[in-house]
Amino acid sequence: MLRDLFIGLSKNQLLNAAAKNYGLKLGAQNVVAGTTIEETIESIKELNRFGISATVDNLGEFVFKEEEATEAKLQILNVIQAIHDHQVDAHISLKPTQVGLDIDFDFCLENVREIVAKAAQYDMFVNIDMEDSSHMDATLKLVDLLSADYENVGTVIQAYLHDAQNQVEKYQHMRIRLVKGAYKEPADIAYQNKSEIDANYIRIIEWHLLNGKFTSIATHDHDIINHVKQFVKEHSITNDKFEIQMLYGFRRDMQLQLAKEGYNFCTYVPFGKDWYGYFMRRLAERPQNLTLVFKQVFNK
Ligand code: FDA
Repeated sequence: MLRDLFIGLSKNQLLNAAAKNYGLKLGAQNVVAGTTIEETIESIKELNRFGISATVDNLGEFVFKEEEATEAKLQILNVIQAIHDHQVDAHISLKPTQVGLDIDFDFCLENVREIVAKAAQYDMFVNIDMEDSSHMDATLKLVDLLSADYENVGTVIQAYLHDAQNQVEKYQHMRIRLVKGAYKEPADIAYQNKSEIDANYIRIIEWHLLNGKFTSIATHDHDIINHVKQFVKEHSITNDKFEIQMLYGFRRDMQLQLAKEGYNFCTYVPFGKDWYGYFMRRLAERPQNLTLVFKQVFNK
C-alpha cells in the first residue's frame, strides 16, 4: 500500500513542479548529489577518491514541451563537458522522456544522438535508462538505431519482465545494466512477487555474465550480490567483465566495502532541481527510507 502511495505521489505533477522551486528537502539531499553541475562534480570526486566511478543522471520528469526537452539536452551536454574538463571517472545515464520521448520520437532520437555523439568524442559511455513499459518499445528502438552508429551506448533490462531473457539475449553484445525493475507493471507482462523477480534476476545475471559483453548489476540486495560473488568465482569470470551499481546515498558502507574488495563499483548519481519524483520512487521501493525523511524533519 505504501508503495502505491509513493508511486502516486511521484506522479503528481503539481507537487513535482512545486518542489523545483525549493532546494533539496525532506532528506532528499541524502540521495541526490546536488542541484548544480558544480556540486555534482564535487560529489563525484569524493566517490572517485574511494575508487568508485559514477553514472550521472540529470533529474527531470513530465517533459511535454520541446523547450524543456531542449533545456535538458543542453544540461546533459554540459555535464559531459564538465566530466571531461574535470577528468572525473564518470559517464551518463539518461531517461528518454526527459529529452522528448513523450513529444515526438524523431525529436527525441536527434536529442539523444547529439548527446551520444558528444560523449563518443570523449570516449564516454551513455546508458539509456528504462522507464515504464509504455515507453519500452520506443526506448529499445532508440537503442537499436543509435547502437548502429555508436559503440558507447547501452541500456537497462528489468528482471520483472517476462520477456527479460529474450531482451538479454538480443542485447548481449552491449554493455547492459540489469535491474529488478522500478515501476508498477501489470501481471500479463511482469512478475508480481519478489521471489519470482529475484529468481528471474539471478537467471539473467548469470546468463549475461557468461555470454554478455559487460554486465552492470544494479542492486542493493546483499543476497544477490553474494550470489554474484560466488558465481563469478566458480566460473572464473574476471572483475573486468562486470561491475556492481547502487544509487547515491544507499548502503554507503557496502559500496565502499565492495570497492575495497576490488570489485568495479559505479554509483548512480542523480542531480538537479527536479528531485521530487525520484525521491518518492525511492520511498516507494523501500518505505524504510522514510527514516531519511524523519531524521531530516526532527533534526531541525
Ligand atoms: P530490493 O529493493 O528488492 O531489496 C532487496 C533487499 O536488499 C531488501 O529486502 C533489503 O534486505 C536489502 N536492501 C535494499 N535496499 C537497502 C538499503 N537501502 N539498506 C539496507 N538494505 C537494503 N529500475 C528501472 O526500472 N529502470 C532503470 O533504469 C533503473 N536503473 C537503476 C540503476 C541503479 C544503479 C540501481 C541501483 C537501480 C536502478 N533501478 C532501475 C531500480 C531497480 O529496478 C530496483 O527498483 C531497485 O534497485 C530496488 O531493488 P533492489 O535490487 O535494490 O533490491
